[in-house]
Amino acid sequence: MGLGESSIRKETEQNMEAVTRVQRIAEAGIGQVPPEYIQPPDQRPNKPMSESPSPPNNIPAVDLSKESESIQDEIGRACREWGAFHVINHGVPLELLRQMRSVGRSFFEECPMPDKLKYACDSSSAASEGYGSKMLVNDGSVLDWRDYFDHHTLPLSRRNPNRWPESPPNYRRVVAEYSDEMEALAEKLLKYMSESIGLASSCIKDAVGEFYQNITVSFYPPCPQPELTLGLQSHSDMGAITLLIQDDVEGLQVLKDGDWITVQPLADAIVVLLADQTQIITNGEYISSQHQAITNARKARLSVATFHDPAKTKKISPSSALISESSPPRYRGVVYGDYVSSWYTKGPDGKRNLDALLIDKMEYLCDGVAARIEVRSTKWTTNGWKKRCTTSGGDER
Ligand code: OGA
Ligand code: NI
Repeated sequence: MGLGESSIRKETEQNMEAVTRVQRIAEAGIGQVPPEYIQPPDQRPNKPMSESPSPPNNIPAVDLSKESESIQDEIGRACREWGAFHVINHGVPLELLRQMRSVGRSFFEECPMPDKLKYACDSSSAASEGYGSKMLVNDGSVLDWRDYFDHHTLPLSRRNPNRWPESPPNYRRVVAEYSDEMEALAEKLLKYMSESIGLASSCIKDAVGEFYQNITVSFYPPCPQPELTLGLQSHSDMGAITLLIQDDVEGLQVLKDGDWITVQPLADAIVVLLADQTQIITNGEYISSQHQAITNARKARLSVATFHDPAKTKKISPSSALISESSPPRYRGVVYGDYVSSWYTKGPDGKRNLDALLIDKMEYLCDGVAARIEVRSTKWTTNGWKKRCTTSGGDER
């Protein structure tokens, strides 16, 4: 079903008023970014880092052409320590990666703005398909220095290439093929992750269920004041697993032990980012990656992120095979649609939405009576069980 001419025009008009395209601002050649794009000092890039003597200079790279045991070992380590890694020799045709970057870039750089706006998404509804930029809402949040095009690709019932750009002529075919290749790779990676944590091969994929896949092409125009802005604010992805390719312009950063590490683009590799539902399913043994994108003054940057999420109706909980008396559940179960709604209402703010599902250790041990006990509760964080509060007083929650 294609969008009727009239509904396209309506969306275009609505969105031209509501949203400013970053690319337009960048092309106007201003020397200073508008105030809506200026991050508060503690969120700006390159702020003082942890004291670690020499932070690592890239995420691990896992070679998928090795034998399975070594792949499992390396993936297990990367998922525990980073939540992010490159895969190389991944089997996805390199020509398809090149074409995907090329059609994405062509939409942003060659399609005239009025034509681009024909594909404007409905920015008042979350994750709507099409051409978008973050909309200014009155909640004190800062705008990202980024425009994007979001494609709904899986299940097939959501895929309608008529809603995607028609130029260049191979655009729609490339996105459809890319979607299929990413789905297969995501499934393969979840299989390795299940095996590496001691679960049956299909365990994590079964817990996620049918993939809901979106492909987002992000375009980060050059920014006159990169030290004040972010291309994309710090967050972890909310679904199960994200596969990302980028061009040769660096900008993606992942948080590792308090340091922002810039992911050095590795030609032909695919970046794997673990997302929040995988952290819940693995009961926190594998961590979702907290990441952000920075901008630069010289060159536009392009990335293509492919998100694999559960259905909105799917209930996600720690896998029962990982729960025992000595390894209690760390997260409450959540219906994925509720997780998404709270993410959109409260914003990402690092990993706060995941932290909100943490189970108090006392709550678990005492079956809900912990709130009334004098001993202060403890809380599990990614750094282990931690005292939550040392002073007396009311319940903190
Ligand atoms: C995202 C994301 C990073 C990038 O789209 O969720 O984190 O480098 N993108 O574009
Ligand atoms: Ni992300």
